[in-house]
Amino acid sequence: MNALNKAQDLDSSNAYNLAVTKPSISVIGLGYVGAVSTACLANLGHRIIGVDIDTIKTKQISKGESPIHEQGLGELLSKGVAENLITATCDVARAVSQTDITFVSVGTPTSEDGGCDYKYIISAARAIGEGIAQKSSYHVVVMRCSIPPSTTLNVMVPEIEAASGLKMGVDFGVCFNPEFLREGTAIADFKDPPKTVIGANDEKAAKMLADIYSPVDDNVIMTSIEVAEMVKYVDNVWHATKVCFGNEVGRICKPLNIDSHKVMDIFVQDTKLNLSPYYLKPGFAYGGSCLPKEVRAVVHLAKNLGLETPLISSLSKTNEQQIESAIQLVRQTGKKKIGFLGLAFKAGTDDLRESPALEMMNTLIEEGYDVSAYDPAIKKDTRIDNQFSYMRHACPHLEPVVNALPNLLRNQGQQVSKECDVIVVTQKTPEIQNLIAGRLGHVEVIDLVRLFKNQPNFKGYQGIGW
Ligand SMILES: NC(=O)c1ccc[n+]([C@@H]2O[C@H](COP(=O)([O-])OP(=O)(O)OC[C@H]3O[C@@H](n4cnc5c(N)ncnc54)[C@H](O)[C@@H]3O)[C@@H](O)[C@H]2O)c1
Repeated sequence: MNALNKAQDLDSSNAYNLAVTKPSISVIGLGYVGAVSTACLANLGHRIIGVDIDTIKTKQISKGESPIHEQGLGELLSKGVAENLITATCDVARAVSQTDITFVSVGTPTSEDGGCDYKYIISAARAIGEGIAQKSSYHVVVMRCSIPPSTTLNVMVPEIEAASGLKMGVDFGVCFNPEFLREGTAIADFKDPPKTVIGANDEKAAKMLADIYSPVDDNVIMTSIEVAEMVKYVDNVWHATKVCFGNEVGRICKPLNIDSHKVMDIFVQDTKLNLSPYYLKPGFAYGGSCLPKEVRAVVHLAKNLGLETPLISSLSKTNEQQIESAIQLVRQTGKKKIGFLGLAFKAGTDDLRESPALEMMNTLIEEGYDVSAYDPAIKKDTRIDNQFSYMRHACPHLEPVVNALPNLLRNQGQQVSKECDVIVVTQKTPEIQNLIAGRLGHVEVIDLVRLFKNQPNFKGYQGIGW
């Protein structure tokens, strides 16, 4: 029996009763992701049934031929077919019923409104439901498509449950396992992944999937399904941001006769501040004497060169939006007595220049709020006149807060935390952490710096981006 016949006659095949102890896997969708998964998972010793609605692809896979141009894929597929580990079919339900785990890698194209088109996910999910309904053993469904957060649980799972009459977490498990392969180096990426992320709400399912990946990654990152879904989107938006940022740097460098690659070669060597987690966690707006000024300067430079740099030019707008979002959080409390813990643009300095906390306070004062503030580095007798003259010159709109500051400042954080109905936290220090920990539940807290590792579950606490 040749490979194609085997694929078309799954039921009658005794060839599947192989002495393979590893879980068998059905891979639904044999495109760029599914074809690579099929080949690489078979190479790890799993029996794979590849499934696609496109018969040309299933026939190619059955013959050990690659349906796409991808280095090394044809060789791995033909090896898998020769070892009786890979077959392919168009019958999703039957493939699911004859395997332990199902990987879903159907397409998720852009919908007409710019969102995600779920039609392939929905039809695959229904067929998966029909497949697991035919099984008596526990099955794991692994979603691999790039999808908006909650799609796995709110779109795919209900379809599986409706079609099967079975319950997630009882009869079958579900994981979201984002795919990070790069086309062109997909097989090398499978063998040496940048990371392996498993989103799960079911330990048994998560463990089965982690075991599959253990030969290539024994340090998988476990998280919730929604976080894993978002990770994939964030990764790709970040990659797109990097491409556009590098290109805008090149656009500015070229007319200045500066070698942009020399600039970026030096840029990437800084793994402390540039290519690092630093500056990447959601929190408050940037400020200080450097970032706002230098962003303005580079935008000005590009403009003088007659260049469009939409990414760099949009930075101050998104920064202002972050300040506005924080102000909105205060307005939504409906309270009037607002205390700030942290005034300088970051902890450990008394530098008030372009501090977003001052911008925020200024707006609140203008809107009639009763504002007070404490900063560990700024006391009533701290000399800040030079900064005031800088701020009056560079930011004349801050006049109200600059004038009011001497009367707003408190020398003790406790004064602020006791006399206010809402505390706005703009700096993360052990002192402020302790102060807030003692007041949670007694006062409303607007946290702009993620004071605590986990979001406190207290009424009246809210973070700006979490
Ligand atoms: N291409 C990549 O490099 C890459 C990387 C990471 C993640 N992803 C994501 O993985 C998913 C798949 O991407 P792709 O590039 O492999 O897509 P693709 O379009 O190449 O392949 C999708 C396959 O699914 C098949 N299909 C559709 N509905 C089906 C159904 N009901 N049953 C069986 N097969 C069905 C299609 O015929 C097609 O062959 C997408 O969500 C994508 O965003 C892609």
